[in-house]
Amino acid sequence: MNKPSNFIHRFEPATRLEAPPLLLLHGTGGDENDLLQLGRLVSPGSALLSPRGKVIENGMPRFFHRHAEGVFDEDDVRRRANELADFIETARKDYGIGKPVALGFSNGANIAAATLLLRPDALAGAVLLRAMVPLSHPPKVDLSRKQVLMISGTHDPIVSHENAAELQGLLDARGANVESHTLPVGHQLSQADLTLARRWIGMHETVAVRRAS
Ligand code: MLT
Repeated sequence: MNKPSNFIHRFEPATRLEAPPLLLLHGTGGDENDLLQLGRLVSPGSALLSPRGKVIENGMPRFFHRHAEGVFDEDDVRRRANELADFIETARKDYGIGKPVALGFSNGANIAAATLLLRPDALAGAVLLRAMVPLSHPPKVDLSRKQVLMISGTHDPIVSHENAAELQGLLDARGANVESHTLPVGHQLSQADLTLARRWIGMHETVAVRRAS
């Protein structure tokens, strides 16, 4: 079992108990500080758990190895998603928080999607910002209690429309309740991402908290 200290991370306790805990997962080259402000904005008062990815690529932290842009080392994806799920479990006990909603951007969204598919019990749901298919043959898990928001960009040079649609299909086929939006933007986040994520988390707040207990 991993101790939370096995991931360098930041933790901010909740100031509003009905707000769902958020697991913040940064993109390639980010760290545990990157998404704190986004987390505070999209879900004011939520407990924030923000680990730093352990894989270093050209000096940049990320959450799993890849062979090339968009070509993932799937054995590593599996190993790291399981490691992250163990971290969440231990951190929940140590910090006394409920099951978190993942808020992941880019590589962080990809590890969040992999964790949902491999260890669905670790998460209450996920906000996937610029996510792509993390595994070519994910297991047929039951995601019928999971709430997912996917936001993609029409002009994203990294995640094609087809790839994002395939991920949505994988989640839909496993019963997840997926809300999906495509914005006229690229890979970077925009104000519209923030607005949509904030509205969605607010809407699902009660459900997420109930399921966390
Ligand atoms: C990944 O490697 O997870 C994706 O290509 C996104 C990124 O560039 O980090």
